[in-house]
Amino acid sequence: MSAVTVGIDAIAFHGPGAYVEMAALAEARGVDPAKYVRGIGQRQMAVATPCDDTVTLATEAGRKALEAFGVDPASIGTLVVGTETGVDHSKPCAVYVHELLGLPTACRTFETKHACFGAMAGLTTAMDWILSGRANGRKALIIASDIARYGLRTAGEPTQGAGAVAMVISANPRLVELDPVLSGDYTRQVMDFWRPLYSKYAQVDGHYSIDCYLDAFSGCWEDLRERAGERVAELDITALDACLYHVPFTKMAKKAHHRHWEVQLGRPVAREDPEVAQITASQAERVQPWLSLNERVGNIYTGSVFLALLDYLRRLDPEREGRAFSLFSYGSGCGAALQLARTVPGAASFAAQLDPTPDLDARKELTVEAYEALCEACERADENGTELADPARWEVGGTLCYTGTVDHRRQYTRVD
Ligand code: CAA
Repeated sequence: MSAVTVGIDAIAFHGPGAYVEMAALAEARGVDPAKYVRGIGQRQMAVATPCDDTVTLATEAGRKALEAFGVDPASIGTLVVGTETGVDHSKPCAVYVHELLGLPTACRTFETKHACFGAMAGLTTAMDWILSGRANGRKALIIASDIARYGLRTAGEPTQGAGAVAMVISANPRLVELDPVLSGDYTRQVMDFWRPLYSKYAQVDGHYSIDCYLDAFSGCWEDLRERAGERVAELDITALDACLYHVPFTKMAKKAHHRHWEVQLGRPVAREDPEVAQITASQAERVQPWLSLNERVGNIYTGSVFLALLDYLRRLDPEREGRAFSLFSYGSGCGAALQLARTVPGAASFAAQLDPTPDLDARKELTVEAYEALCEACERADENGTELADPARWEVGGTLCYTGTVDHRRQYTRVD
């Protein structure tokens, strides 16, 4: 790594205060619950109310990251919100977040979109900004925020969710150093998942999207190997403490790890091959332990790999500090990046600040009927003049709320 280290200095998650159990959803859809829980790998799914939007989720995650790690808002010189579920065709979510967090006017503020890849693009841009010297000691706040919607009774329904992960990127970070050399990129125009301007719901070719994701992983790995040069031994999976992938549903991370081994071995591995035992053990050691938050939140699109990262960091034990791990982000359409990183000595001492489970435990469980009513109300909550985003109606409180659109202007209020 270079003399100046750059990476993640603070991180926090925020999600809606309600969820539905996947087993209950499966039963309501006449599906074997084992398909959702084991086949797809999801236990619960966060459900947004009409008072949650990409701005409220992003702002609350940003506020938690700044407060929990004592980062002065005045030190932020770049703010990026990565999202594929923005609230306006022109105005970025980031500028609302900028005001709501009280960030300085001398701040470069924008939104990035490339499906689930938007926040990773923001993260690497922030790294380049700091390494170039243009940051002048300032920090970047990168927030991944999304509400994943496929619609009721669709094949994608069990792979929905909502939430945001905010990260402060700085020189000499306290949690994670990003490697400025060991990263690989991939882009290819494919129609696996998209959301036309006229739709709140994603269009998806589900099984094809899985193939595109895995092909993108292979492409990133090839690029990474070329760039690694003499450092190629550092890419070996057995040298990695964890392998974190984009997690639209947790089974996908396991499929990605299988592909990770295949590209390393240089050949496909079939179910009956002897390497399967080694791959299964590697999944249990490097992938599965860090999926417990994703299992409870569902798909948060661009933030999902960073939710797995948060899980990894909150469970870090001091003996593993300083070890390398990989981060893979995939955005349908498609764009992807595979980035190597390592934890910083002392990172394990932040476990208490990092743990979002008290907030997850405090969420309200919804019946499937209540979840469906919320989804239907969310469809129209953006309309000008509607009263559907009334916090009292949905018993929402203790957080920042979207309270409706008045005179074509979105309204935000903190509700106690
Ligand atoms: N018990 C246990 N397991 C069962 C089961 C049962 N009774 N029934 C089925 N399963 C297993 C299947 O074997 C399968 O596992 P494998 O993939 O390991 O074989 C799994 O459950 C899913 O079964 P199906 O493939 O039959 O399910 P499906 O046809 O309903 O589709 C899906 C699943 C494609 C993920 C669908 O939910 C979907 O389209 N989701 C949205 C797209 C998506 O998430 N794509 C991911 C890559 S793209 C991306 O990552 C970007 C992004 O965020 C969208």
